[in-house]
Amino acid sequence: MERRISCSSSSALFFVFLLLSWPACSVSSGADTLSPDRPLLDDGVTALVSSGGRFRLGFFGPNGSTNRYVGIWYNNIPDQTVVWVANRRHPLTTLSGNLSLTTNGTLTITGEDNTTAIWSSGSPASGLRNPVARILDDGNFVVQEAGSNGNDSNSFAWQSFDFPTDTLLPGMALGQKQLRTGAILNINLTAWMSSTDPAPGQYVFGLDVRGDPQLFIWSDTRPYWRGGPWNGRWFSGVPEVRDGADGVISFNFNKDHLSYRPVSQSSTIVRWTMNSSGQLQLLVWAEQSWIVSWYIPKDRCDQIFLCGPNSYCRSNISPPCTCLPAFHPRNQRNWNMLDGSDGCTRTTPLDCLNNTDGFFTQSDTKLPDTSRSTVVANLSLEGCRALCLSNCSCRAYAELDIRTASGCLIWTEDLTDMTVYQRGLGQDLYVRLAAADLASASASESSHHHSGRNILLTVVLPLAILLFLACVAYSIWRWKKRFSQIHYEAEDKDMELPLFDLNTIKDATDDFSPDNKLGEGGFGPVYKGKLGEEQEIAVKRLSKTSTQGVDEFKNEITLIAKLQHRNLVKLLGCCIQGEERLLIYEYMSNGSLDNFLFGEAQTVFLDWRARYNIILGVARGLLYLHHDSRLRIVHRDLKASNILLDKDMNPKISDFGMARIFGGDESESITKRVVGTYGYMSPEYVMDGIFSIKSDVFSFGVLVLEIISGKRNRNVGQSMEQSNLLGNMWIMSKEGKCLDLVDTKFGHLLSENEVLRCVKVGLLCVQKQPEDRPTMSSVLAMLVSVDNISLLPEPKQPDQADRHHDKDCKLGDSGMSSLQLVPYPDTATNIL
Ligand SMILES: *[C@@H]1O[C@H](CO)[C@@H](O)[C@H](O)[C@H]1NC(C)=O
Ligand SMILES: *[C@@H]1O[C@H](CO)[C@@H](O)[C@H](O)[C@H]1NC(C)=O
Ligand SMILES: *[C@@H]1O[C@H](CO)[C@@H](O)[C@H](O)[C@H]1NC(C)=O
Ligand SMILES: *[C@@H]1O[C@H](CO)[C@@H](O)[C@H](O)[C@H]1NC(C)=O
Ligand SMILES: *[C@@H]1O[C@H](CO)[C@@H](O)[C@H](O)[C@H]1NC(C)=O
Ligand SMILES: *[C@@H]1O[C@H](CO)[C@@H](O)[C@H](O)[C@H]1NC(C)=O
Ligand SMILES: *[C@@H]1O[C@H](CO)[C@@H](O)[C@H](O)[C@H]1NC(C)=O
Ligand SMILES: *[C@@H]1O[C@H](CO)[C@@H](O)[C@H](O)[C@H]1NC(C)=O
Ligand SMILES: *[C@@H]1O[C@H](CO)[C@@H](O)[C@H](O)[C@H]1NC(C)=O
Ligand SMILES: *[C@@H]1O[C@H](CO)[C@@H](O)[C@H](O)[C@H]1NC(C)=O
Repeated sequence: MERRISCSSSSALFFVFLLLSWPACSVSSGADTLSPDRPLLDDGVTALVSSGGRFRLGFFGPNGSTNRYVGIWYNNIPDQTVVWVANRRHPLTTLSGNLSLTTNGTLTITGEDNTTAIWSSGSPASGLRNPVARILDDGNFVVQEAGSNGNDSNSFAWQSFDFPTDTLLPGMALGQKQLRTGAILNINLTAWMSSTDPAPGQYVFGLDVRGDPQLFIWSDTRPYWRGGPWNGRWFSGVPEVRDGADGVISFNFNKDHLSYRPVSQSSTIVRWTMNSSGQLQLLVWAEQSWIVSWYIPKDRCDQIFLCGPNSYCRSNISPPCTCLPAFHPRNQRNWNMLDGSDGCTRTTPLDCLNNTDGFFTQSDTKLPDTSRSTVVANLSLEGCRALCLSNCSCRAYAELDIRTASGCLIWTEDLTDMTVYQRGLGQDLYVRLAAADLASASASESSHHHSGRNILLTVVLPLAILLFLACVAYSIWRWKKRFSQIHYEAEDKDMELPLFDLNTIKDATDDFSPDNKLGEGGFGPVYKGKLGEEQEIAVKRLSKTSTQGVDEFKNEITLIAKLQHRNLVKLLGCCIQGEERLLIYEYMSNGSLDNFLFGEAQTVFLDWRARYNIILGVARGLLYLHHDSRLRIVHRDLKASNILLDKDMNPKISDFGMARIFGGDESESITKRVVGTYGYMSPEYVMDGIFSIKSDVFSFGVLVLEIISGKRNRNVGQSMEQSNLLGNMWIMSKEGKCLDLVDTKFGHLLSENEVLRCVKVGLLCVQKQPEDRPTMSSVLAMLVSVDNISLLPEPKQPDQADRHHDKDCKLGDSGMSSLQLVPYPDTATNIL
């Protein structure tokens, strides 16, 4: 039998005496209820525990903070995982808290000053005669009448489930709720400010109940991600999380609220959490850790305004935005620079009166925004079509419920925020087109679509059913295995970099023999080595004298281990033994680009083909870092010596010691410690320490101009006039004499058009204002797909970063002390 009150005693009389003389006995650990005469005091340990032992309610301090909060967390999970916080806006600063229940059923938290409540649950709608507060086994903290131990929400005068923080537990409902007073309550999740501060943060996750209700993440009240409408089995924009047997959870979606429960057993511990960096996660507790079963946003198509109205996004295609058939870009210039946010417009107006319009089927889509669309229940697809044709403002329709194949969604506004999936995960959207456009739209897509239909019926459907049954069986099996290895996130987590033994590396490099030394990288020497007979490796050895290098070393490991791209140098493993810190890379037989452009290796002349190939490769590698990997990475030290060349002269970006990961929608950051290399740093970085993907674009522009001209942007020791490559390039480009600046030895392989295009793109990249520089996806598109150079925007005169710095900063002789500028010796080649 668990103890309920600390002052329990064998003698009832003594008990009564105690109650009279000490009006405030407090709860002791193990109890699940709080009553007016038994508050919960913060002594650092005491807490309520739900009757089945799953949840615990009490005072806690988040890891890394001295503040005290009342919260709920899992009782049996060792890493305190807080799912609810009462006083998230008003923390207590000392161990003095007192959570009590007033006689009329209001929960309050008071601190040292017993009289003013820093948090209160508000007075309950109906008066309670004998209230108690209880923590239930589903994690709900409720106030109810003492006698009624029911767990049905009608018996609750107040419940914490109505006021969630950042976590949605099974059984909790998101959306709108009508209180008994008639007031409407909006139930959303609001992220913590940071992992140590539960105060309401930037991101809110909830249900927008306008039109056809949709899931949304808002960032500072602006839409940030749209999950789309419910189609009976899943939310249109969340095709991976399905209802029922082939999913982890089963949804209960009803008009204006959403709840869920785990599919297999109620003992499975799952939660949805809106995290402080803007990601919504579905987590499952398995194998003694939280496994991220799904999260969003995860690719660029999850950005709500990436592709504007009447265009759709495809995540694995560059450029990502495509106009709907028979639509064309609204702003061709921006579209050419791969900015699709203006969207598209109809080529031929609809002809409603003559009733000649028809429909084009855009399959596999995430349906457009439904917050202003009309919902019509109980209509067949044919009925929907007729309904749409009969209303001149109707622009598209789709099926409302794919389970019952009934009802429709009707759009009468522009179609926004669409994605086309490539895995058969989406739905059909019927877009209304003028008769004149129907033929062309169908010509391009429909034939393939029709044959697609036939294949669908005869082959794919039976296969899909088989596959589905197999999936059901498999998912039952995998539940038995308790998530041991299914989720790719879990694989990621387990993905460990191979650890090499120090002796292996010593053997491979001849005990770091000076003969094998390839050069000096940012943090120490780099050696060539040979593993076994075949594999050549490059070993970067962190110098023991370097104190600052350890962080960069860790940075490089964690970062580069996650990156895989043919234009990034591949990390094979690492070695941490005693004092030694080694990184083992694939060996790049041709060394660094720097050497070919400016160094001794000029004997091997790089012809234009090779240079063009290098420019494109570096652009692709950088695009991957900025946009396509699951992380957003700013390299911060892109330069010729960090571009390595393999035996076929393919470029690979190396040296990630300075790189930074950007989270969520974070787009720029400020550092006090400006690191980088003269000549490659953008003005805003040198001046203000601001770096973003656009500062990498600047460095890329410099690199392009260096590759074309074969001249360094800034040669130490040269005068300003001689070394201002950017300015000279711009002037020559303006005067149409670009080719004069080009490395003279290019010979007949030179493609004039390609060179001019590269010069122009290079100049656009080194514009003074970051917003005038294109993104890497625009850069790549301009490099490969724009034939007519005059379509590209005209670059303004570039402003040399370093010159700016010299002139305006008026720093002392050293010129850099206040900026803590840490330039790398550009003479030393960073082999890796
Ligand atoms: C608190 O943080 C430290 C370091 O970040 C970590 O080692 C520890 O496990 C954390 N404790 C909890 C309870 O999360
Ligand atoms: C706790 O708060 C209640 C109500 O505010 C008060 O009656 C009680 O005396 C307090 N107990 C302690 C030990 O501060
Ligand atoms: C409940 O009690 C508090 C103080 O104990 C009082 O301020 C409040 O007005 C009461 N509410 C109702 C509805 O009686
Ligand atoms: C708060 O209440 C406790 C116990 O009832 C009492 O000892 C203490 O003096 C009170 N503090 C204040 C500031 O009223
Ligand atoms: C609610 O009560 C029913 C029956 O009393 C019980 O089966 C169920 O597990 C309870 N649910 C919770 C969340 O406590
Ligand atoms: C919370 O949800 C409601 C609908 O459930 C929505 O209308 C409202 O905008 C959301 N609140 C915030 C702060 O975004
Ligand atoms: C938020 O979730 C994402 C995706 O699971 C994860 O990568 C990130 O580290 C999380 N951020 C925090 C602060 O927990
Ligand atoms: C209807 O069709 C006729 C001839 O096909 C055409 O002249 C007329 O402009 C059309 N009406 C509208 C409103 O487009
Ligand atoms: C749809 O049709 C079914 C059966 O015909 C009927 O029971 C149901 O009430 C209808 N629903 C609506 C919203 O009209
Ligand atoms: C067309 O549909 C819109 C939106 O559903 C509606 O407001 C409008 O009244 C309809 N027009 C006609 C003529 O039915």
